[in-house]
Amino acid sequence: MKDSISLVEKEAREELARVDSAEKAELFRVAYLGKKGKLTELFKGLGAVPSDEKKAIGAELNRVKQWLETSIGELRQKSSPKNSSVDVFDETLPGIKLPRGSIHLLQQTIAEISGIFNRMGFETVEGPEIETEFHNFTALNIPLDHPSRDAFDTFYTERGQVLRSQTSPVQIRVMKNRKPPLKVIAPGRVYRPDTVDASHSFMFHQLEGLMVDERVTFSDLKGVLHLFLRSLFGSQTKVRFRPHFFPFTEPSVEIDIQWGKGWLEILGAGSVDPNVFEEVGYDPSVVRGFAFGMGIERIAMLRHGINDIRHFYENDLRFLRQF
Ligand code: DAH
Repeated sequence: MKDSISLVEKEAREELARVDSAEKAELFRVAYLGKKGKLTELFKGLGAVPSDEKKAIGAELNRVKQWLETSIGELRQKSSPKNSSVDVFDETLPGIKLPRGSIHLLQQTIAEISGIFNRMGFETVEGPEIETEFHNFTALNIPLDHPSRDAFDTFYTERGQVLRSQTSPVQIRVMKNRKPPLKVIAPGRVYRPDTVDASHSFMFHQLEGLMVDERVTFSDLKGVLHLFLRSLFGSQTKVRFRPHFFPFTEPSVEIDIQWGKGWLEILGAGSVDPNVFEEVGYDPSVVRGFAFGMGIERIAMLRHGINDIRHFYENDLRFLRQF
Protein backbone atom coordinates (compact mmCIF):
# COMPACT_ATOMS: atom_id res chain seq x y z
CA MET A 1 0.00 0.00 0.00
CA LYS A 2 2.81 2.37 0.91
CA ASP A 3 4.43 1.70 -2.42
CA SER A 4 1.21 2.46 -4.29
CA ILE A 5 0.90 5.75 -2.44
CA SER A 6 4.41 6.91 -3.30
CA LEU A 7 3.90 5.77 -6.89
CA VAL A 8 0.73 7.87 -7.23
CA GLU A 9 2.45 10.80 -5.54
CA LYS A 10 5.42 10.62 -7.90
CA GLU A 11 3.09 10.42 -10.93
CA ALA A 12 1.10 13.39 -9.65
CA ARG A 13 4.23 15.46 -9.15
CA GLU A 14 5.31 14.88 -12.77
CA GLU A 15 1.87 15.62 -14.17
CA LEU A 16 1.50 18.72 -12.05
CA ALA A 17 4.54 20.24 -13.73
CA ARG A 18 2.68 20.16 -17.03
CA VAL A 19 -0.53 21.83 -15.79
CA ASP A 20 -0.60 25.35 -17.22
CA SER A 21 -4.26 26.29 -17.50
CA ALA A 22 -7.42 26.31 -15.46
CA GLU A 23 -8.90 23.54 -17.65
CA LYS A 24 -5.88 21.30 -17.17
CA ALA A 25 -5.96 21.95 -13.42
CA GLU A 26 -9.55 20.71 -13.33
CA LEU A 27 -8.71 17.58 -15.34
CA PHE A 28 -5.82 16.95 -13.00
CA ARG A 29 -8.08 17.29 -9.95
CA VAL A 30 -10.58 14.81 -11.38
CA ALA A 31 -7.80 12.34 -12.24
CA TYR A 32 -6.60 12.20 -8.64
CA LEU A 33 -9.33 13.43 -6.33
CA GLY A 34 -12.47 12.76 -8.41
CA LYS A 35 -14.89 9.90 -7.67
CA LYS A 36 -12.73 7.46 -9.56
CA GLY A 37 -9.51 9.39 -9.02
CA LYS A 38 -6.25 7.60 -8.35
CA LEU A 39 -5.97 8.82 -4.78
CA THR A 40 -9.67 8.25 -4.12
CA GLU A 41 -9.20 4.63 -5.21
CA LEU A 42 -6.38 4.25 -2.69
CA PHE A 43 -8.60 5.61 0.08
CA LYS A 44 -11.15 2.94 -0.84
CA GLY A 45 -8.47 0.28 -0.20
CA LEU A 46 -7.89 1.55 3.35
CA GLY A 47 -10.51 -0.82 4.73
CA ALA A 48 -8.46 -3.83 3.70
CA VAL A 49 -5.30 -2.56 5.44
CA PRO A 50 -4.38 -4.47 8.67
CA SER A 51 -5.46 -2.44 11.69
CA ASP A 52 -1.98 -1.84 13.09
CA GLU A 53 -0.91 -0.14 9.85
CA LYS A 54 -4.17 1.71 9.25
CA LYS A 55 -3.22 4.82 11.19
CA ALA A 56 0.11 5.35 9.44
CA ILE A 57 -1.31 4.61 5.96
CA GLY A 58 -4.28 6.85 6.62
CA ALA A 59 -2.01 9.70 7.66
CA GLU A 60 0.11 9.21 4.58
CA LEU A 61 -2.95 9.29 2.29
CA ASN A 62 -4.19 12.46 3.97
CA ARG A 63 -0.82 14.11 3.62
CA VAL A 64 -0.83 13.46 -0.17
CA LYS A 65 -4.46 14.56 -0.47
CA GLN A 66 -3.73 17.81 1.30
CA TRP A 67 -0.68 18.46 -0.81
CA LEU A 68 -2.76 17.84 -3.97
CA GLU A 69 -5.53 20.17 -2.82
CA THR A 70 -3.16 22.97 -1.96
CA SER A 71 -1.30 22.63 -5.28
CA ILE A 72 -4.50 22.63 -7.30
CA GLY A 73 -5.76 25.70 -5.41
CA GLU A 74 -2.54 27.55 -6.19
CA LEU A 75 -2.72 26.58 -9.87
CA ARG A 76 -6.28 27.82 -10.11
CA GLN A 77 -5.37 31.19 -8.70
CA LYS A 78 -2.45 31.57 -11.06
CA SER A 79 -4.47 30.91 -14.23
CA SER A 80 -7.59 32.81 -13.21
CA PRO A 81 -8.06 36.08 -15.10
CA LYS A 82 -9.87 37.58 -12.12
CA ASN A 83 -6.52 37.87 -10.54
CA SER A 84 -5.18 40.34 -13.12
CA SER A 85 -5.47 44.00 -12.19
CA VAL A 86 -6.62 45.01 -15.71
CA ASP A 87 -10.01 43.52 -15.07
CA VAL A 88 -10.88 45.54 -12.04
CA PHE A 89 -14.05 47.46 -12.85
CA ASP A 90 -14.69 50.66 -10.99
CA GLU A 91 -18.23 51.79 -11.71
CA THR A 92 -17.61 55.16 -10.05
CA LEU A 93 -15.17 56.27 -12.78
CA PRO A 94 -16.57 58.52 -15.56
CA GLY A 95 -17.50 56.68 -18.79
CA ILE A 96 -15.41 56.60 -21.96
CA LYS A 97 -16.37 59.43 -24.31
CA LEU A 98 -16.85 58.27 -27.89
CA PRO A 99 -15.81 60.82 -30.51
CA ARG A 100 -18.89 62.29 -32.18
CA GLY A 101 -19.06 63.13 -35.86
CA SER A 102 -21.11 65.87 -37.42
CA ILE A 103 -23.27 66.19 -40.49
CA HIS A 104 -21.31 66.95 -43.66
CA LEU A 105 -21.70 70.53 -44.85
CA LEU A 106 -23.24 69.38 -48.14
CA GLN A 107 -25.89 67.39 -46.29
CA GLN A 108 -26.50 70.33 -43.97
CA THR A 109 -26.99 72.55 -47.01
CA ILE A 110 -29.36 70.06 -48.64
CA ALA A 111 -31.32 69.82 -45.37
CA GLU A 112 -31.58 73.58 -45.08
CA ILE A 113 -32.70 74.09 -48.68
CA SER A 114 -35.12 71.14 -48.47
CA GLY A 115 -36.51 72.56 -45.24
CA ILE A 116 -37.43 75.82 -46.94
CA PHE A 117 -39.24 74.00 -49.76
CA ASN A 118 -40.83 71.46 -47.42
CA ARG A 119 -42.36 74.33 -45.49
CA MET A 120 -43.82 75.59 -48.77
CA GLY A 121 -45.43 72.18 -49.25
CA PHE A 122 -42.85 70.49 -51.51
CA GLU A 123 -42.27 66.82 -50.77
CA THR A 124 -38.73 65.38 -50.92
CA VAL A 125 -38.30 62.46 -53.35
CA GLU A 126 -35.31 60.56 -54.72
CA GLY A 127 -34.31 58.92 -57.97
CA PRO A 128 -31.54 56.54 -59.07
CA GLU A 129 -28.03 57.74 -59.87
CA ILE A 130 -27.73 55.16 -62.67
CA GLU A 131 -30.33 56.25 -65.19
CA THR A 132 -31.60 55.33 -68.62
CA GLU A 133 -30.88 57.60 -71.57
CA PHE A 134 -34.60 58.04 -71.85
CA HIS A 135 -35.01 59.62 -68.41
CA ASN A 136 -31.80 61.63 -68.48
CA PHE A 137 -32.15 62.96 -72.04
CA THR A 138 -34.94 61.92 -74.38
CA ALA A 139 -37.92 62.45 -72.07
CA LEU A 140 -36.46 65.81 -71.07
CA ASN A 141 -36.72 66.96 -74.67
CA ILE A 142 -33.02 66.46 -75.32
CA PRO A 143 -32.95 64.29 -78.49
CA LEU A 144 -29.88 62.16 -79.23
CA ASP A 145 -28.50 64.66 -81.74
CA HIS A 146 -29.39 67.81 -79.81
CA PRO A 147 -26.37 70.11 -79.34
CA SER A 148 -27.29 70.90 -75.73
CA ARG A 149 -26.63 67.27 -74.94
CA ASP A 150 -22.90 67.96 -75.09
CA ALA A 151 -23.08 70.18 -72.02
CA PHE A 152 -24.84 67.45 -70.08
CA ASP A 153 -22.93 64.49 -71.45
CA THR A 154 -21.91 61.92 -68.93
CA PHE A 155 -20.47 58.51 -68.09
CA TYR A 156 -22.03 55.46 -69.74
CA THR A 157 -22.15 51.92 -68.42
CA GLU A 158 -21.40 48.98 -70.69
CA ARG A 159 -25.11 48.23 -70.81
CA GLY A 160 -25.89 51.69 -72.18
CA GLN A 161 -27.13 53.27 -68.99
CA VAL A 162 -25.84 56.63 -67.84
CA LEU A 163 -24.74 58.14 -64.56
CA ARG A 164 -27.34 60.90 -64.43
CA SER A 165 -25.86 64.25 -65.42
CA GLN A 166 -28.63 66.21 -63.68
CA THR A 167 -31.41 65.59 -61.17
CA SER A 168 -34.02 66.52 -63.80
CA PRO A 169 -34.77 62.84 -64.70
CA VAL A 170 -36.45 62.55 -61.28
CA GLN A 171 -39.13 64.90 -62.69
CA ILE A 172 -39.91 62.30 -65.35
CA ARG A 173 -40.07 59.44 -62.85
CA VAL A 174 -42.40 61.34 -60.53
CA MET A 175 -44.72 62.47 -63.35
CA LYS A 176 -44.91 58.95 -64.79
CA ASN A 177 -45.75 57.44 -61.41
CA ARG A 178 -48.20 60.01 -60.11
CA LYS A 179 -50.93 62.35 -61.19
CA PRO A 180 -51.01 66.13 -60.63
CA PRO A 181 -51.12 68.14 -58.44
CA LEU A 182 -47.41 67.61 -57.77
CA LYS A 183 -45.00 69.57 -55.62
CA VAL A 184 -41.69 67.77 -55.19
CA ILE A 185 -38.01 68.42 -54.70
CA ALA A 186 -35.28 65.90 -55.48
CA PRO A 187 -31.79 66.33 -54.06
CA GLY A 188 -28.94 64.03 -55.10
CA ARG A 189 -25.64 63.30 -56.80
CA VAL A 190 -24.98 63.94 -60.46
CA TYR A 191 -22.01 63.08 -62.69
CA ARG A 192 -20.19 64.76 -65.56
CA PRO A 193 -16.90 63.99 -67.23
CA ASP A 194 -15.40 67.30 -66.12
CA THR A 195 -11.73 67.66 -65.35
CA VAL A 196 -11.38 68.19 -61.63
CA ASP A 197 -10.18 71.61 -60.51
CA ALA A 198 -11.09 74.21 -57.88
CA SER A 199 -14.57 74.71 -59.31
CA HIS A 200 -15.26 71.40 -61.13
CA SER A 201 -15.78 67.83 -60.03
CA PHE A 202 -16.85 64.69 -61.91
CA MET A 203 -19.50 64.28 -59.21
CA PHE A 204 -21.48 66.96 -57.44
CA HIS A 205 -24.93 67.55 -55.96
CA GLN A 206 -28.03 69.20 -57.30
CA LEU A 207 -31.51 69.86 -56.03
CA GLU A 208 -34.37 69.73 -58.48
CA GLY A 209 -37.87 71.07 -58.00
CA LEU A 210 -41.15 70.50 -59.82
CA MET A 211 -44.64 71.84 -59.40
CA VAL A 212 -47.49 70.72 -61.66
CA ASP A 213 -51.16 71.54 -61.46
CA GLU A 214 -53.91 72.90 -63.65
CA ARG A 215 -53.25 76.58 -63.06
CA VAL A 216 -49.57 76.95 -62.24
CA THR A 217 -48.16 80.10 -63.82
CA PHE A 218 -44.80 81.72 -64.35
CA SER A 219 -45.59 84.13 -61.52
CA ASP A 220 -45.88 81.12 -59.17
CA LEU A 221 -42.35 80.19 -60.26
CA LYS A 222 -41.17 83.72 -59.53
CA GLY A 223 -42.91 83.87 -56.17
CA VAL A 224 -41.68 80.50 -54.92
CA LEU A 225 -38.07 81.02 -56.00
CA HIS A 226 -37.96 84.59 -54.78
CA LEU A 227 -39.16 83.48 -51.37
CA PHE A 228 -36.69 80.59 -51.39
CA LEU A 229 -33.69 82.79 -52.22
CA ARG A 230 -34.60 85.35 -49.58
CA SER A 231 -35.06 82.62 -46.96
CA LEU A 232 -31.65 81.20 -47.75
CA PHE A 233 -29.57 84.32 -48.38
CA GLY A 234 -31.42 86.92 -46.28
CA SER A 235 -34.59 88.96 -46.59
CA GLN A 236 -32.85 91.86 -48.34
CA THR A 237 -31.43 89.69 -51.14
CA LYS A 238 -31.86 91.14 -54.62
CA VAL A 239 -32.97 88.58 -57.20
CA ARG A 240 -32.74 88.79 -60.98
CA PHE A 241 -34.55 86.60 -63.54
CA ARG A 242 -32.60 86.42 -66.80
CA PRO A 243 -33.88 84.73 -70.01
CA HIS A 244 -32.04 81.53 -70.82
CA PHE A 245 -32.51 78.23 -72.64
CA PHE A 246 -33.14 74.78 -71.25
CA PRO A 247 -34.52 72.00 -73.44
CA PHE A 248 -37.07 70.87 -70.84
CA THR A 249 -38.56 74.29 -70.04
CA GLU A 250 -40.11 76.98 -72.19
CA PRO A 251 -39.70 79.81 -71.40
CA SER A 252 -36.56 79.32 -69.33
CA VAL A 253 -34.64 81.58 -66.99
CA GLU A 254 -31.47 81.68 -65.02
CA ILE A 255 -31.84 83.30 -61.64
CA ASP A 256 -29.10 85.39 -60.08
CA ILE A 257 -28.68 87.00 -56.70
CA GLN A 258 -26.82 90.21 -56.10
CA TRP A 259 -23.47 89.49 -54.53
CA GLY A 260 -21.26 92.45 -53.75
CA LYS A 261 -21.17 94.60 -56.86
CA GLY A 262 -22.08 91.79 -59.22
CA TRP A 263 -24.65 89.04 -59.79
CA LEU A 264 -24.21 85.35 -59.18
CA GLU A 265 -26.19 82.65 -60.94
CA ILE A 266 -27.90 80.31 -58.48
CA LEU A 267 -30.75 78.57 -60.29
CA GLY A 268 -31.99 77.37 -63.63
CA ALA A 269 -35.77 77.27 -64.04
CA GLY A 270 -38.70 77.59 -66.38
CA SER A 271 -42.20 76.49 -67.31
CA VAL A 272 -42.30 72.77 -68.08
CA ASP A 273 -42.08 72.27 -71.86
CA PRO A 274 -45.27 70.79 -73.40
CA ASN A 275 -43.10 68.11 -75.06
CA VAL A 276 -42.04 66.90 -71.61
CA PHE A 277 -45.68 66.63 -70.51
CA GLU A 278 -46.43 64.63 -73.63
CA GLU A 279 -43.52 62.25 -72.90
CA VAL A 280 -45.03 61.40 -69.50
CA GLY A 281 -48.59 61.14 -70.76
CA TYR A 282 -49.95 64.43 -69.37
CA ASP A 283 -52.17 66.63 -71.51
CA PRO A 284 -50.29 69.94 -72.03
CA SER A 285 -53.52 71.72 -72.76
CA VAL A 286 -54.74 70.89 -69.26
CA VAL A 287 -51.72 70.92 -66.95
CA ARG A 288 -49.08 73.58 -66.36
CA GLY A 289 -45.98 73.52 -64.27
CA PHE A 290 -42.62 74.92 -63.47
CA ALA A 291 -39.29 73.29 -62.68
CA PHE A 292 -35.99 74.44 -61.30
CA GLY A 293 -32.55 73.10 -60.50
CA MET A 294 -29.56 74.28 -58.51
CA GLY A 295 -26.05 73.16 -57.59
CA ILE A 296 -25.54 72.47 -53.89
CA GLU A 297 -21.75 72.83 -53.78
CA ARG A 298 -21.90 76.23 -55.40
CA ILE A 299 -24.37 77.50 -52.80
CA ALA A 300 -22.39 76.07 -49.87
CA MET A 301 -19.18 77.59 -51.26
CA LEU A 302 -20.76 81.03 -51.61
CA ARG A 303 -22.26 81.07 -48.16
CA HIS A 304 -19.19 79.82 -46.35
CA GLY A 305 -16.42 81.39 -48.39
CA ILE A 306 -15.04 78.04 -49.59
CA ASN A 307 -12.70 78.49 -52.52
CA ASP A 308 -12.12 74.92 -53.70
CA ILE A 309 -14.83 72.33 -54.42
CA ARG A 310 -12.39 69.50 -53.71
CA HIS A 311 -12.53 70.28 -49.97
CA PHE A 312 -15.97 68.67 -49.87
CA TYR A 313 -14.77 65.27 -50.94
CA GLU A 314 -11.35 64.84 -49.33
CA ASN A 315 -12.50 63.96 -45.82
CA ASP A 316 -9.99 66.32 -44.27
CA LEU A 317 -11.21 66.75 -40.71
CA ARG A 318 -9.58 70.19 -40.44
CA PHE A 319 -12.04 71.32 -43.11
CA LEU A 320 -15.07 69.29 -42.02
CA ARG A 321 -14.84 70.26 -38.34
CA GLN A 322 -15.43 73.92 -39.16
CA PHE A 323 -19.09 73.32 -39.96
N1 DAH B 1 -30.79 70.42 -65.10
C1 DAH B 1 -30.21 71.75 -65.17
C2 DAH B 1 -28.70 71.66 -65.07
O1 DAH B 1 -28.18 70.63 -64.73
C3 DAH B 1 -30.75 72.63 -64.09
C4 DAH B 1 -32.19 72.95 -64.36
C5 DAH B 1 -32.54 74.01 -65.14
C6 DAH B 1 -33.18 72.14 -63.86
C7 DAH B 1 -33.84 74.33 -65.39
C8 DAH B 1 -34.51 72.43 -64.13
C9 DAH B 1 -34.83 73.55 -64.91
O2 DAH B 1 -35.50 71.69 -63.67
O3 DAH B 1 -36.13 73.83 -65.14
O4 DAH B 1 -28.04 72.64 -65.31
